Amino acid sequence: MSYVEDPGPGYGALPPRAAFTSDAPSLSLNGTWRFRLSPSVAAAPPGVEGDEFDDSAWDELPVPSLWQLHGHGRPAYTNVHYPFPVDPPHVPSENPTGDHRLRFDLPADWPAGPAVLRFDGIDSCGRIWLNGVELGVTKGSRLPSEFEVGPLLRPRGNVLAVRVHQWSAGSYLEDQDMWWLSGIFRSVTLLARPAGGIGDHWIRADYDHESGLGTVRVETGPDVVLDIPELGVSGHPAGEPLALPVEPWSAETPRLYAGTLSTAAERVPVRIGFRTVTIEDGQLEVNGRRLLLRGVNRHEHDPRTGRVVSPETALADVLLMKRHHVNAVRTSHYPPDPAFLELCDEYGLWVIDECDLETHGFGPLGWDRNPSGEPMWAEACLDRMRRTVERDKNRPSVILWSLGNESHTGENLARMAAWVRHRDPTRPVHYEGDHDCSYVDVHSRMYATPSEVERIGQRDDANARRRELPFLLCEYGHAMGNGPGGLLEYRELFERYPNCQGGFVWEWIDHGLVTADHFAYGGDFGEPIHDGNFVIDGLVFPDRTPSPGLAEYAKIIEPVRVGPDPAGIRVSNHYDFRSTAHLAFTWVLEDEGTAVARGVLDVPVVHSGQSVVVPRPDLPVTRGESWLTVSAVLADATAWAPAGHVAGWGQLLVSPAPPRPSRPARGPVFRTAGRLILGDGEFDPATGAMTTFGGHAVRGPRLDVWRATTDNDRGASAGRPDASLWREAGLHRMQHRVIGVDADGDELVVRTRVAPPAQAFGFFADYTWTAFDDGLRLRVAVTPDGPVPETIPRLGLTMAVPGTFGSAEWFGGGPGEAYPDSRQAARIGRFSSSVDGLQTPYVYPQENGNRIDVRWARLTDPDGRGIRIDGDPRFAFTARRWTAAELEAARHTSDLVAGPWVHVTLDTAQHGLGSASCGPGVLPPYRLVPQKTEFSLLFSTSR
Ligand code: GAL
Repeated sequence: MSYVEDPGPGYGALPPRAAFTSDAPSLSLNGTWRFRLSPSVAAAPPGVEGDEFDDSAWDELPVPSLWQLHGHGRPAYTNVHYPFPVDPPHVPSENPTGDHRLRFDLPADWPAGPAVLRFDGIDSCGRIWLNGVELGVTKGSRLPSEFEVGPLLRPRGNVLAVRVHQWSAGSYLEDQDMWWLSGIFRSVTLLARPAGGIGDHWIRADYDHESGLGTVRVETGPDVVLDIPELGVSGHPAGEPLALPVEPWSAETPRLYAGTLSTAAERVPVRIGFRTVTIEDGQLEVNGRRLLLRGVNRHEHDPRTGRVVSPETALADVLLMKRHHVNAVRTSHYPPDPAFLELCDEYGLWVIDECDLETHGFGPLGWDRNPSGEPMWAEACLDRMRRTVERDKNRPSVILWSLGNESHTGENLARMAAWVRHRDPTRPVHYEGDHDCSYVDVHSRMYATPSEVERIGQRDDANARRRELPFLLCEYGHAMGNGPGGLLEYRELFERYPNCQGGFVWEWIDHGLVTADHFAYGGDFGEPIHDGNFVIDGLVFPDRTPSPGLAEYAKIIEPVRVGPDPAGIRVSNHYDFRSTAHLAFTWVLEDEGTAVARGVLDVPVVHSGQSVVVPRPDLPVTRGESWLTVSAVLADATAWAPAGHVAGWGQLLVSPAPPRPSRPARGPVFRTAGRLILGDGEFDPATGAMTTFGGHAVRGPRLDVWRATTDNDRGASAGRPDASLWREAGLHRMQHRVIGVDADGDELVVRTRVAPPAQAFGFFADYTWTAFDDGLRLRVAVTPDGPVPETIPRLGLTMAVPGTFGSAEWFGGGPGEAYPDSRQAARIGRFSSSVDGLQTPYVYPQENGNRIDVRWARLTDPDGRGIRIDGDPRFAFTARRWTAAELEAARHTSDLVAGPWVHVTLDTAQHGLGSASCGPGVLPPYRLVPQKTEFSLLFSTSR
């Protein structure tokens, strides 16, 4: 059997060891290589390993890279299904094969002697030669491999040849939900290995929270000494335990001690974090404290380079996470570039480091011949686990090892777990697929509903082992498109049940790929089988712009909470370790959204898990509805955010809106030249529809219950998708029958029945218009008639105003969009935005941009002329340059083309978002069940 189809791990590589750098010479071989793609192994040119082989006609390709993103072949996306026949360990004969060649010289001072050639990642299988000599074959795409090359090196004209196959037996173990991409996608480095140097090391650094002592002992070769100048440690024999008072490492206070390991021949800089992970009484603890994991699942993704993620991009992720209060990362579903984990150590993130293993595509086949249980894969599985643990064992941020993802269960997984436990008893083992928890140390589930989590919290479980373990959601809150909704309910459970220790939102980033005018997803590259936009399910857009989902998650997991209390202002500390000593508290009083006073709030230091109540500051008298916003902010800059960065905020209502003075109506309705005129409005006498307002052409407003369906509306984890029920009911194509237009009195009363074709149900919608000095009031009475659907997307009005009304200002919830079950991040204030800026550019267009709790909104042209709408008391609105139907029809953002109107929705209610694209649907309190409803709006001209 060819090495490509051999289910084993490859051959020729050195035993795995820790990732580290040293003062021994090293040479990056990243850069421009020669490249040639062949359609199959058979078609690949012979002799590429030879010095004399002529590659001058080949293309150039950067290394690291994934060749499909450089014009060779095309990316392909599938979630569960293998894009090739499931015939393990065989792969297609049409197996794109990329030959890579690099000619390099050694620096003049390169030492003679041993040297190692290190590949940090080759997808999926690479055969490697140096100067004509085969070094070996590597599989395990997201794992390093090293080869001894010392004797082969020459000062000048070294020829490195790497033949990479898109498909290999290893592909069966790499069925993660992501793009299929191939190449040498992580760094290639040549490392001199001095005799008497430090081949490998394992810094075992524990912390005893009772004594405050840290213990460090380094497993390494003989004659290695440890220096930690900050701790006064100098020349300490590395292998001998050393106990000394230290500050512990945690994700909140990532205290690292810089030191060195050295021998006469080599010095290795190290950064030591002291911490101890334990499971006590069914709780996962670090340094004696229960953790609450406020995590995300992070794939490695860059919209231009795919899984080639630069150190700058890794840092951008870490900074964004820290700034949004994320405290944990699951490296779904493979070890990341090692640089990322160093950043987690440095900035402070708890990490579940996951092995590069997923065999999900066997699931649809009933898990028949699943590699997790087949002896022929045993060695490859173990090899992947070994390479994960050995590479990352020195990272204090790594607190759990994960065997992989969605590979069902089997003996090979059990053996991986046993190996980990033996090799590293200091970190518990995670794997979601072991449902009985027979070989893992934590109980993990994905997408469990709040009620399931509640049962787990109550330890209502027949399985005794599972009942005793800490529980976490390795995936929840599927962040696809607009959503997720319903995150708050999980937080409440994590806080109520000590064994429910948080979870990891799926997922961090949309894996969209850059094209000329939009981000691409599955199917955009002509893949015969694909899973569409299911790869677009992150909290940040492909370019790492935070989505509203991230703002919401940040608000829910903020470490400090501020809110009203009968005695003043309550401040609660939700850090797991820290006090609030590093924070300052500021307040601002806003009168109808305009700041009128500010100050600093005196808050005593609050310890982790505690709250205090402080009196409200003295506030000036305000005229309108006023709110006090209190923010906990960083008193000083940290490594990841400037001073003033908000760690938590809350709002207190200081005075409600004064009642609107009652005023006389200003009828009657006039009839002139085929128009009805009431106040600033003109109406069509036949339909009763408003045609102009304040001299501006308008359309509507009229009843509308439709929204451009979201990914979550279209998802169905239980029962049928909401969107299908709505569409079958015809809610997207309602017809408006005018029953009567009564313009004879002071009011204009328009009675209608709004109903879809082919259905017996409908809604009576009565519009009553009344003119007042300050505007035109519309009262809408909606009465369901007949067997209406169980839920509807929204209930409100749609109208169109001139396209020149391109600016919006409102007093209400903002600044971003919000929905009934995703509204924690919205605060009450006065906001403004262009209409274009109100749009959330979901990669797959869908309903977005809804502003909630709006007291009033203005839409104006560049001269400030336009329309103002007041709620009675509140409404929600969107404004966009396309209709809901156009939004629904679009497949990419570039399909959305501005029309002549601004289309506005004015809603009294919306259905929640849920996360049914993969998980629970909209929870009962957030479902919009149609019922008899009345609401009013006041329309006035804005100047
Ligand atoms: C999970 C899986 C993830 C991803 C997610 C849906 O089942 O572990 O990799 O596919 O579903 O987006």
